[in-house]
Amino acid sequence: MLERIQEAADFLNGKMRCHPELAIILGTGLGSLVHEISDKQEIDYADIPHFPVSTVEGHGGKLIIGRLGNRDVMAMQGRFHYYEGYGMKEVTFPIRVMHALGIRKLFVSNAAGGTHPDFKVGDLMMITDHINLFPEHPLRGHNIPYGPRFPDMSEAYSKEWVELAMRLAGEKGWLLRKGVYLGTQGPTYETPAEYRMFRLLGADAVGMSTVPEVIVARHCGMKVLGVSVITNVAASADAVAEASHEEVQQVADAAQPRMTTLMKELINRI
Ligand code: HPA
Repeated sequence: MLERIQEAADFLNGKMRCHPELAIILGTGLGSLVHEISDKQEIDYADIPHFPVSTVEGHGGKLIIGRLGNRDVMAMQGRFHYYEGYGMKEVTFPIRVMHALGIRKLFVSNAAGGTHPDFKVGDLMMITDHINLFPEHPLRGHNIPYGPRFPDMSEAYSKEWVELAMRLAGEKGWLLRKGVYLGTQGPTYETPAEYRMFRLLGADAVGMSTVPEVIVARHCGMKVLGVSVITNVAASADAVAEASHEEVQQVADAAQPRMTTLMKELINRI
């Protein structure tokens, strides 16, 4: 495992024209951020040794390295979901490679279903914490000594960065929610009873990604910020609107300019 990580990192080190400290995982709703990156260099996942390759059609999967605001960044266009059939080691491989490249700051975005009764379709939510309901733990097995066998998770998402985002939203007059993201494997959206259960468990939003990557990033000592676009809501027990991928995509697309602005401003301020 360590050898494969190192080979991927060595390959990238040999190619990259700059050496970012910050990486961004462009989930649903943040794809357009790549248009804001200047002096761009693109590297296909397929060319990187041992990198998993995206299965979703139209998502070739590539790393985009360049300048965003006042920083060099590496953006992952296309992430690996557990529901696609990847193992947890594959889902989180890119995070370990980022760590090997010296990246210590990670921004993550995703689309999620809102379980908080006040949340509206299109809201953005700073992730303050998560609940891991994936059936396999990404750190299961031999402990790669990036971090301890039993890692602390008391601050998975940087409190400082959540506060910074809330202050920024206050200054700008943006509505920005904050809450707990519950990660589950999918690929089904939830039944009304499941949305109710997740609410009872303490979730404000539910989605099918992010948690594995964040766990591995924290194990490696990275500082993490996460934002969800609320693409659908399960507002009341018996009035769960139907969830469809098309709608999730549409709402996420509509939220892109706001998500992109938020991320860009935050990058300039950290
Ligand atoms: N559930 C799980 N994942 C999601 C949802 C949802 O309602 N919306 C967007 N991703």
